[in-house]
Amino acid sequence: MKKLMAANWKMYKTAGEARTTAASLAALTADSLPDDREVVLFPQFTALSPVADALRHAAGYSVGGQDVYPAAEGAYTGEISPGMLMDCGCARVLTGHSERRHIIGESDELVGAKTAFSINAGLKVVLCIGETIEEREAGRLGEVLERQLATGLAGVKGDAVPDAIAVAYEPVWAIGTGKVAGPPEIVEAHALVRQLLVARYGQPGNAVRILYGGSVKPENAREIIALDNVDGVLVGGASLQADSFSRIILA
Ligand code: G3P
Repeated sequence: MKKLMAANWKMYKTAGEARTTAASLAALTADSLPDDREVVLFPQFTALSPVADALRHAAGYSVGGQDVYPAAEGAYTGEISPGMLMDCGCARVLTGHSERRHIIGESDELVGAKTAFSINAGLKVVLCIGETIEEREAGRLGEVLERQLATGLAGVKGDAVPDAIAVAYEPVWAIGTGKVAGPPEIVEAHALVRQLLVARYGQPGNAVRILYGGSVKPENAREIIALDNVDGVLVGGASLQADSFSRIILA
């Protein structure tokens, strides 16, 4: 199973900046991308085609959307469909990122609908889950991850597993804070996610990739991706610079 090394560029980079960074990143790692690594970049919507174009000759690289609406088309002002993402060259999409849950106010049910609809439309999905510091300190880690997985995967059938779905565990308190979760916390959470995936899908649940996200840096990446049930990373700030993210990819 290749480790999925993902960059979430959030609402940073113009289309031109994103294209330049993607081209630099591919150039930096082109000759040395290990066989066990796969890279996906999630730029903002207007940069999708330019980034896909910059990656067209970069083996092992793909582009994805940061969000999607669960409909093929319609009167949904400001939204984008799976088909429109694929039109721009996307192979994947993020659903349930904590910023969409806690800033934009997306419900667990809407996350689940986006996940199922996107997979049925032909996109692969990275379903993001994770607890807040209040939930962790209240001892509710298990309850939160179980609820987010159950609702997020409600419409994902066994035939989509493991290829079409990956899960990103991103403790909200580690995102953008520099407070990366420690190995014990990562191992505990990823083991719980693995257990929930196997309980839901049986043996194929063992092959669903579980990514860690939350203050991943070149300095901590090697240790993190070596941990049990860590099958990749989802990186924000440290992925914005090509040299920094190339060091994470090759860690
Ligand atoms: O989706 C990845 C992102 O939320 C992590 O952000 O800046 O802590 O790597 P960062």
